[in-house]
Amino acid sequence: MIVLVTGSTSGIGKATAEKFASEGYDLIITGRRVERLAAVQHALQERFKVKVTSLCFDIRNQPEVEAAIASLGTVVPNLLVNNAGLAAGLSPLQEGRLDHWERMIDTNLKGLLYMTRIVANKMIDGGVRGHIINIGSIAGKEVYANGNVYCATKHAVDALTRGMRIDLLPHRIKVTSVSPGMVETEFSIVRFDGDEARAKKVYEGMQPLTGEDIADAVYWAASRPAHVNISDIVITPTDQASATNVLRS
Ligand SMILES: NC(=O)c1ccc[n+]([C@@H]2O[C@H](COP(=O)([O-])OP(=O)(O)OC[C@H]3O[C@@H](n4cnc5c(N)ncnc54)[C@H](OP(=O)(O)O)[C@@H]3O)[C@@H](O)[C@H]2O)c1
Repeated sequence: MIVLVTGSTSGIGKATAEKFASEGYDLIITGRRVERLAAVQHALQERFKVKVTSLCFDIRNQPEVEAAIASLGTVVPNLLVNNAGLAAGLSPLQEGRLDHWERMIDTNLKGLLYMTRIVANKMIDGGVRGHIINIGSIAGKEVYANGNVYCATKHAVDALTRGMRIDLLPHRIKVTSVSPGMVETEFSIVRFDGDEARAKKVYEGMQPLTGEDIADAVYWAASRPAHVNISDIVITPTDQASATNVLRS
């Protein structure tokens, strides 16, 4: 069994790669930061004695996606975890930055589409009854003030998950979405363009989820019997009831 996790250089993707490696799965890990990728590859191979292939590319760049997946040759992933993604900025729509919007749309939406199309075709051509797990968000279930374009991309991921499940049905490819609430990763640092103090404040006085919590949910969905498809998992910290209802001490 081979698991391909996009965005495995940090946060949820890294924790997911670790979880599957700890369960004995071979991995294909991806990201843009080549040194981080090499470090994750090395650590997983040393610790869990599994085979880890690393592919360094920008998911927004369709020819790069194509070349990376082509480099796998006849290797077909059994599971694709579409995790790479980000939020950029948090401001009213009328004050939004175009570069933020484009990064989110190109990564969360177009990148996920490029990956899914090529890997789903590999599964179909290879006769693999595969599984695709999309990392959505509670921002794909509700909208919140200033979340506009990020929420729109995650609502789109929610729609695509449901669409994929229908389109891939004839090939018995399972499709699942895992939609987290607040998880402390590099997410908020990226969102606030590297402002670590502002990022830290997001989780002040409350206990957020960890990447490992989400990895557990992904692994659980992936390890159900062949006839069971988990459609949707929404997972929040106990201290969070909705995007904006957060209990802080
Ligand atoms: N943290 C949360 O609170 C939260 C909540 C709900 C949903 N999510 C979703 O969870 C997913 C993972 O986020 P995270 O919290 O783990 O954040 P993170 O720690 O910032 O990790 C994001 C990962 O995505 C990769 N990535 C970003 N842009 C990329 C690009 N253009 N090409 C290739 N890889 C790219 C990054 O790798 P490189 O930088 O090395 O390319 C990194 O490995 C995202 O889809 C996010 O929307 C997060």
